[in-house]
Amino acid sequence: GSTLQAAASERGRYFGTAIAGFRLSDSAYTTIANREFNMITAENEMKIDATEPNRNQFSYAAGDQIVNWARSNGKQVRGHTLAWHSQQPGWMQNLSGSALRSAMLNHVTQVATHYRGQIHSWDVVNEAFQDGSSGARRDSNLQRTGNDWIEAAFRAARAADPNAKLCYNDYNTDDWTHAKTQAVYNLVRDFKARGVPIDCVGFQSHFNSQSPVPSNYQTTLSSFAALGVDVQITELDIEGSGTAQADSYRRVVQACLAVSRCTGISVWGVRDSDSWRASGTPLLFDGSGNKKLAYTSVLDTL
Ligand code: XIL
Repeated sequence: GSTLQAAASERGRYFGTAIAGFRLSDSAYTTIANREFNMITAENEMKIDATEPNRNQFSYAAGDQIVNWARSNGKQVRGHTLAWHSQQPGWMQNLSGSALRSAMLNHVTQVATHYRGQIHSWDVVNEAFQDGSSGARRDSNLQRTGNDWIEAAFRAARAADPNAKLCYNDYNTDDWTHAKTQAVYNLVRDFKARGVPIDCVGFQSHFNSQSPVPSNYQTTLSSFAALGVDVQITELDIEGSGTAQADSYRRVVQACLAVSRCTGISVWGVRDSDSWRASGTPLLFDGSGNKKLAYTSVLDTL
């Protein structure tokens, strides 16, 4: 194939990107996005603060704009995200205990119901574990409602949209030897053993010089897949430039292709100038929309 989506399709995978709603009026941006990608994640528009700005008052216009753009262009959508400690609206930040638990479950139910039938995979829970060596859950208002909040969110999501794949999504879970990776692995193993509905694990895969593509990345993907879940690379970006960056992108694509249950790769933005990263050039197109060496590396590896 001559585009990322075509080449990935030939390998039985999707190739996606995050889309920011405010950029949909930029035709240089939409031309690249429409040509290259067939899986779309809303960069911010389906997060909790966007979809429920006031308690039990839902606001879907911004999310719908992205979903409608994707579907009208023949693309699938990853839902991001239903339960997260970050980007909570103020009212939710101020809740705790059983009131927060029921508000969180209501949010999951309402948003997953609104988008029922339109979502390939939902990031039901995002970033629930700590960094570092503890392997512990991240402290958050959601975690303080009780350790079972993650499975409660997954059960509510399954009830609301039985056909969406339900994912746990996190960062710094790429290195198989890291405590955080093992902690997520143990969560997924436990969920599978107890019949808690989970279908996939998302690896954000934000890489930089402090956190490069680990040599055991493929082992991580295959180990999770062996638990009976799909794995997806959900927010890929790699700081750097030139051949070093291209080589890192190649290794990510090779790892995914080597794992049959690695069903797709999404990058977290289109051009370097669209990246959430404050500095650096982590994406596949430069600010002028030109294909970078990293792009050619990905396309040739697919
Ligand atoms: C980022 C967006 O790209 C930014 O625009 C926003 O200001 C903050 O969130 N992990 C995630 C994503 O799961 O939702 C984050 O997206 C990047 C890190």
